[in-house]
Amino acid sequence: MAAHSDTVADVTVIPDQQPASLEACRRCRLWHDATQGVAGEGPRQAPIMMVGEQPGDKEDLAGKPFVGPAGALLDAALADAGVDRDDVFVTNAVKHFKWSLRGKRRMHKTPGQREIEACRYWLEKEYAAVDPRVVVALGATALKSVLHDYRAGLRMNLGKVLSCEGRLVVPTYHPSYALRAPDEASRHEAYGTIVDALRHAGRLVRQHDRR
Ligand code: URA
Repeated sequence: MAAHSDTVADVTVIPDQQPASLEACRRCRLWHDATQGVAGEGPRQAPIMMVGEQPGDKEDLAGKPFVGPAGALLDAALADAGVDRDDVFVTNAVKHFKWSLRGKRRMHKTPGQREIEACRYWLEKEYAAVDPRVVVALGATALKSVLHDYRAGLRMNLGKVLSCEGRLVVPTYHPSYALRAPDEASRHEAYGTIVDALRHAGRLVRQHDRR
């Protein structure tokens, strides 16, 4: 990891770069303060792709997506929805951890449009490799990236099945929202919404397979 600095204006950014590896990516500045890029994981040809926002602190260190508390919640939600983990490829809209230092802790910062846009290069590569039939967008950042629409809002699309570039898109809350909602009732409700979305994604895959 490069030393953290608040000003990264001097960091090379090559928006049109077509890097061969995530390690070599300089399409935006986020590589500079991250330990490593975190690529998606899961079976090739998984029918469902779950797209989160960006790696968190634990994922940045481990180099794997959703290995922290948000990942544990997703595993529980998949089990409750009856979706086989082997049917799911897990990734993020943005592949490098964006953070700022608060005390000694690296605090998550929401990626901006330019970063989401720059990183769609990698999501497209994952689409090409996996070719999922259904994409579950976890939270607003993922939805913007997946729909390629930076004005897309999550709440107005909850409960809907959208379509983009030939794939079905199921929007739902980000697991961190279900972990951090202020009271037990809202956490429970958010968790239930995620389970419903995953169950629906599983159903859409089965319907597609029957055709
Ligand atoms: N949150 C995300 O959006 N992705 C991860 O990989 C971990 C936490």
